[in-house]
Amino acid sequence: MIKFGVIGTNWITEMFIEAAYQTSEYQLTTVYSRTEERAQTFIDQLKVSHDTITTATTMSDLLASDIDLVYIASPNALHYEQAKAVITAGKHVIVEKPVASNPTEFSDLQTALAQHPDVLLFEAARHVHQPNFKKIKETMKTLPMLQGATLVYQKYSSRFDAYLAGQEPNVLTRKFSAGALYDLGVYPLYAALDLFGTPQAVQYIPTLLRNGADGKGTAILVYPDYTVTLLFGKSANSYLPSEIYGQKETISISNITELESVTYHDGNGNQKEISTPVDDNPMIHEAQDFANIIKDPNGQREVYNNWFRLSQQVNQTLFDLRQSAGIEFPADKRE
Ligand SMILES: NC(=O)c1ccc[n+]([C@@H]2O[C@H](COP(=O)([O-])OP(=O)(O)OC[C@H]3O[C@@H](n4cnc5c(N)ncnc54)[C@H](OP(=O)(O)O)[C@@H]3O)[C@@H](O)[C@H]2O)c1
Repeated sequence: MIKFGVIGTNWITEMFIEAAYQTSEYQLTTVYSRTEERAQTFIDQLKVSHDTITTATTMSDLLASDIDLVYIASPNALHYEQAKAVITAGKHVIVEKPVASNPTEFSDLQTALAQHPDVLLFEAARHVHQPNFKKIKETMKTLPMLQGATLVYQKYSSRFDAYLAGQEPNVLTRKFSAGALYDLGVYPLYAALDLFGTPQAVQYIPTLLRNGADGKGTAILVYPDYTVTLLFGKSANSYLPSEIYGQKETISISNITELESVTYHDGNGNQKEISTPVDDNPMIHEAQDFANIIKDPNGQREVYNNWFRLSQQVNQTLFDLRQSAGIEFPADKRE
């Protein structure tokens, strides 16, 4: 059993805990919150056995507790320092996307990992671990040529109402390294880099909010023979599917993050559903993939290295896109 602690008491942490338990590989031992009351309230509503779970209100108490791993789902700008503390304590860490605010932070985490060679760091990008994402990859290999893609993930945020009412929710402020690109934009970008590799050049055209964060935007990734366009945002809804272009063949994806339906069109009027039904909890596959590596780090080293490399490419490309649009984060000025 992988004994784990969690940082963050929002719904995504609950979803990860349920996914972890569905794999039968993990046991929750510590819930960290800034307040004892919130930690206890969070534990009370969990559907897993409460017997072994303790609370922590300081990082040192969390790290001194009975854990092998910490799952971090705090606001983006806190990921780096929290992940570094976990690595330095010699524990594995799963960090919600995006792992870090910029390449300086990412490279510092790499240095910490080099000093703790038994520690593993995973980025929780749930969709690329899904069976239907793997189907897309396999099907792309059968295409006679590739001509890029349009990948879309745009959902009106429940927190946009608060922004309109004059507030500054964590997820829509640069203070927390947030905004459309560093939130929902991570999903189509992850998919693009995993499916097409590193682009030659990138350009981001954001729709900015009054506080300088991006509410929505369009990113263009330039490859030698084609472009990949990413449409994402938190200030409007989109019902467009995503598409990957072959010659006359097209792979059509209902939603590049949720991946409920993937259809192959042969260009001669025939279409075939190539997806399988998705699980109720979309985090099960990443939780299982991470557990497989933790249980057999040497046997799974190449798999781990591939995920880590992808995470680094995503971190660099997020930064390059942000630079192209002149969006700065306070985290960029941190010593
Ligand atoms: N994979 C997915 O599908 C998915 C979905 C949603 C979010 N996420 C990721 O999960 C992370 C958390 O997102 P979220 O929307 O849940 O964030 P959030 O609600 O703003 O914050 C998450 C938790 O962090 C703590 N927190 C909030 N504000 C804080 C502050 N100012 N200082 C210190 N701690 C603070 C709170 O826990 P306490 O009050 O208990 O300390 C809160 O429950 C983000 O990185 C996001 O990208 C991933």
